[in-house]
Amino acid sequence: MKKWNVAVLGATGAVGQQMLKVLSERNVPLGTVKALASASSAGKKVYCGAKEITVEETRDDSFQGMDFVLGAVSNAMAQKFRPSIVQSGAVFIDNSSAFRLDDDVPLVIPQINGEDAFTHKGVIANPNCSTIVTLMAVSGIARIAKICEMVACTYQAVSGAGREGIVELETQMRQELTGEAKTSNVFPCQILSNAIPFIGSEIDNDYTTEEMKMQNEGRKILHLPELKVCCTCVRIPVIRSHSISVQLKLDRDVTMDEVKAAISCAPGCVLTDSIEGRNYPTPLDVSDQDLVYVGRVRRDLINGDKGLCLWCCGDQIRKGAATNAVEILELLIK
Ligand SMILES: NC(=O)c1ccc[n+]([C@@H]2O[C@H](COP(=O)([O-])OP(=O)(O)OC[C@H]3O[C@@H](n4cnc5c(N)ncnc54)[C@H](OP(=O)(O)O)[C@@H]3O)[C@@H](O)[C@H]2O)c1
Repeated sequence: MKKWNVAVLGATGAVGQQMLKVLSERNVPLGTVKALASASSAGKKVYCGAKEITVEETRDDSFQGMDFVLGAVSNAMAQKFRPSIVQSGAVFIDNSSAFRLDDDVPLVIPQINGEDAFTHKGVIANPNCSTIVTLMAVSGIARIAKICEMVACTYQAVSGAGREGIVELETQMRQELTGEAKTSNVFPCQILSNAIPFIGSEIDNDYTTEEMKMQNEGRKILHLPELKVCCTCVRIPVIRSHSISVQLKLDRDVTMDEVKAAISCAPGCVLTDSIEGRNYPTPLDVSDQDLVYVGRVRRDLINGDKGLCLWCCGDQIRKGAATNAVEILELLIK
């Protein structure tokens, strides 16, 4: 059986660490696994299952001999290393938002538009984490009716901002206990005991870059170029897993029974009938696993039989990033 050489670019970060874990859990037939990061991490040890790997500083020649590079670095770093990755012949599956809307880069959620992955020219983009969780939740509904409009309000975990986001919340928890003043470096203001309705940077329509991803990426993934999405992104003091409240307007009347059946049948999705007596998931229920849970499915009181509301939660470091990337790799090696 062929073994695949895989480099994780950003192997010391929140997503990169998870990629190494998911690669080993899913029994991808691995040859060489490289862990790449900045010069400051060179020599550190990370693990892919039981296998210890020494982190290397990323250089332009780091990708030679690799079949795949899983990207878990910033937009700037992804842009910097893209030419040398492509030149090495490896397929670059990237988690940053640098290339997601480029015409020659497929943007892929395997359960929804896996076939798009095969059109790649060396680079495949992983969608935004809230977009993945939301689209997974509505993917079954999209198969029985056309989604015309979507209103989404996100409740995003601090780890969505990387390992520094987790450190900031934990530091503020300690500062609360010791009575020190709270320090905020990652988030625009105190995140402990708070909710911050601003993620990304503001653009000229008064929405943020993070909010516009839901529409722009949603259109590309669902192949619905006219889909209208109105999104508000909120950071909450949860360590892990994003939640989204979603309101949909469809192109035809649907019954609640057919909607629930569609969600139940959607690959990678679970309709939450009862978690400890609740009909809704919470971030804690869904952390450290790969399924997106959907609950509170109900009629939207504005759009009648064409309208629906639901609540969904998913682990954004796994299905929203690392697992989705590894699933794309698996599609290509099948
Ligand atoms: N966190 C999430 O939930 C999530 C979800 C979806 C997508 N994403 C995207 O995934 C990417 C990674 O996010 P993250 O949350 O994992 O960030 P993170 O925890 O801050 O990790 C960043 C990684 O980038 C590496 N890095 C920094 N400078 C580098 C350089 N000069 N050369 C090579 N590597 C360098 C870091 O290595 P050092 O340790 O050496 O500094 C670290 O491994 C981002 O584009 C993010 O937007 C994140």
